[in-house]
Amino acid sequence: MAPVKTRWIYFSLVVLGALCLYFSMHDLSIFKGEPFIFKKEYGRFLQLPDVDCGHSPPFLVLLVTSSHEQLFARTAIRKTWGKEKVVRGKRIKTFFLLGTTLSEGASRAVAQESQRHRDIIQKDFVDVYLNLTLKTMMGFEWVHHFCPQAAFVMKTDSDMFVNVYYLVELLLKKNRTSRFFTGFLKMNELPIREKRNKWFVSRYEYPWDKYPPFCSGTAYVFSGDVASQVYNVSEAVPFIKLEDVFVGLCLARLRIGLEELHSEQTFFPAGLSFSTCRFKKIVACHFIQPQKMLSYWKALESSLGEECPAE
Ligand SMILES: *[C@@H]1O[C@H](CO)[C@@H](O)[C@H](O)[C@H]1NC(C)=O
Ligand SMILES: *[C@@H]1O[C@H](CO)[C@@H](O)[C@H](O)[C@H]1NC(C)=O
Ligand SMILES: *[C@@H]1O[C@H](CO)[C@@H](O)[C@H](O)[C@H]1NC(C)=O
Repeated sequence: MAPVKTRWIYFSLVVLGALCLYFSMHDLSIFKGEPFIFKKEYGRFLQLPDVDCGHSPPFLVLLVTSSHEQLFARTAIRKTWGKEKVVRGKRIKTFFLLGTTLSEGASRAVAQESQRHRDIIQKDFVDVYLNLTLKTMMGFEWVHHFCPQAAFVMKTDSDMFVNVYYLVELLLKKNRTSRFFTGFLKMNELPIREKRNKWFVSRYEYPWDKYPPFCSGTAYVFSGDVASQVYNVSEAVPFIKLEDVFVGLCLARLRIGLEELHSEQTFFPAGLSFSTCRFKKIVACHFIQPQKMLSYWKALESSLGEECPAE
């Protein structure tokens, strides 16, 4: 029989091992300090676009998340689906959402770009992936303060193709004016707990086992009133760096349900190979390089009057 002292050492080692296991599973969260508290008035606006929504309310505002180095993508969008236009008598306006960068050259270039195009919305938060929720909420805040007259708003990314013709057609057909939210619906998503994954979320950041219903952040569309309502509750929901989940939390709090825009799939967050007839019947497609944006758009516009064979 081992002496009492040895048994105590074994016992202590087992307890220590158990504690180590516990903390490694819980991301050492007790050592991590305070959680980030989101504030509605976070930062101040550095660039604002030149638009008077009160005087001439747009039917649809497209808000495109973008970063300093994506000038090529912004240029392609300005020449294609982001060009100001009227579809079925409805005006569409596109704006880019940016944060700040430490590079002085890049900052100056964006300020000049903003002067020239008057389509940049920028606040003073550091433009990194982890701040994407701040960037998105800046868009909601901007609509709330400067463009509450917009009938609809789309939030999308700079590597997306947006068929504004079909979007306007479907929105008019849907005929909804308030508390409307649509996109690629994700009704039963679970937090990813593998550290190496891009979408990893610790239990410290999000302790619950399920996400609320949300729409893929690649592209979602809502009636203008939703912007002010989401902005209004944004301080009252737990902050999470995944902007689409964060908006989902706001919507759950507001009891605004998600709806399909159409009986067939029109949002393609995982991409879709191009054919003119296929892209005539989509709203948004992910993973589109600027060069492709130009050629797809040209093909789409030149085929507008043509019918496609029924599938
Ligand atoms: C997000 O922006 C804020 C404000 O500029 C900054 O303090 C913070 O460090 C940024 N977050 C990250 C992860 O860089
Ligand atoms: C749209 O809905 C309104 C009621 O909300 C109704 O009066 C109108 O007729 C509808 N229009 C179409 C085209 O369905
Ligand atoms: C914002 O919230 C307050 C109370 O929480 C409410 O009284 C107000 O009507 C809300 N405003 C909007 C625009 O939803």
